[in-house]
Amino acid sequence: MNILNYEAVALDDKEKSLVILDQTKLPNEINILHLKTQPEIYHAIYTLQVRGAPAIGIAAGFGVYLAAKNIQAETYDEFFGKFHEAKEYLNSARPTAVNLSWALNRMEKVVIDNRDKNIPEILELLRQECIAIKNDDIEMCRKIGEYGLTLIKDGDGILTHCNAGQLATSKYGTALAPIHLGRERGMNFHVYCDETRPLLQGARLSTFELLADGVDTTLICDNMASQVLKNGWINAVFVGCDRVAANGDACNKIGTSGLAILANYYHVPFYVLGPTSTIDMNIKTGGEIKIEQRKPEEVTEMWYSQRMAPEGVKVFNPAFDVTPHELITGIITEFGIARPPYDESLREIFTKRSK
Ligand code: MRU
Repeated sequence: MNILNYEAVALDDKEKSLVILDQTKLPNEINILHLKTQPEIYHAIYTLQVRGAPAIGIAAGFGVYLAAKNIQAETYDEFFGKFHEAKEYLNSARPTAVNLSWALNRMEKVVIDNRDKNIPEILELLRQECIAIKNDDIEMCRKIGEYGLTLIKDGDGILTHCNAGQLATSKYGTALAPIHLGRERGMNFHVYCDETRPLLQGARLSTFELLADGVDTTLICDNMASQVLKNGWINAVFVGCDRVAANGDACNKIGTSGLAILANYYHVPFYVLGPTSTIDMNIKTGGEIKIEQRKPEEVTEMWYSQRMAPEGVKVFNPAFDVTPHELITGIITEFGIARPPYDESLREIFTKRSK
């Protein structure tokens, strides 16, 4: 039994709680949490116990279904009002990854489209929808992996940032999907993981799941990426995304845009991998994306046995940054690989999706 045998996010058999693998405890402790109340689920998303754009969408889908089951309402309107309130509450847990609102809107659409049905019938449809959100994610990640594999060959060196792996989704991951899928086919890659300050998703999570899959994995500090690229060890950079704008600007974990600049300088292709649920065609550019700001303690204290910065120092701690589309070689989705100009290629991807 290794980490890849655990599900990052699930509904328990009795459908009374959201079950997550507590990612704040990895890799030292495999701790499974059963969350029943809305504040517990909100807290899990906010503190990154469950994290990664697709996984928080799936968690929110299950979370709002559990909320709906507990609603006491006499009429549809009363039910809808309370459902909407629960949806907005979970949606406010983190602002940047669009998958959170995408999944919650998908759930709310079920309630809106079925107003002629009775509440037990609506609950059953909500149950089916949240399970479908998770199952769709597995399928999307597998397809992303297939497209990603067409860009690399056995033995290649890949550099990745943060964790856009299985732990951030329901299976395979996005940026790491080609690696896991390649492993299933007996391929080997040399994967370099940025540790990803300040929350160390690369060090704690990506290396953990890659080693569990038998991948040749090397951990580097974020400031070593330039040297690794200069050494010629990297054939492609694969990163995930939290929200992509219609022009291809891609928001992902803080540090991604710096990596894109380095990859560009060293002429290494830089790919963003993510499902269409992470592409927000309602925003024109990355400038419209709200970037989550997090607590200073994540930079000054967390992970250290004693504080590592003087009391009172100002801290800038954005959780994400936006990589300008000019630096992105391709955006790999479940409907194919979008190439520049992205305003056209992403539109084509969405046309394929609507068929
Ligand atoms: O703050 P996190 O850990 O939720 O940030 C995660 C990322 O930035 C991932 O790269 C992104 O969500 C894609 S996960 C498939």
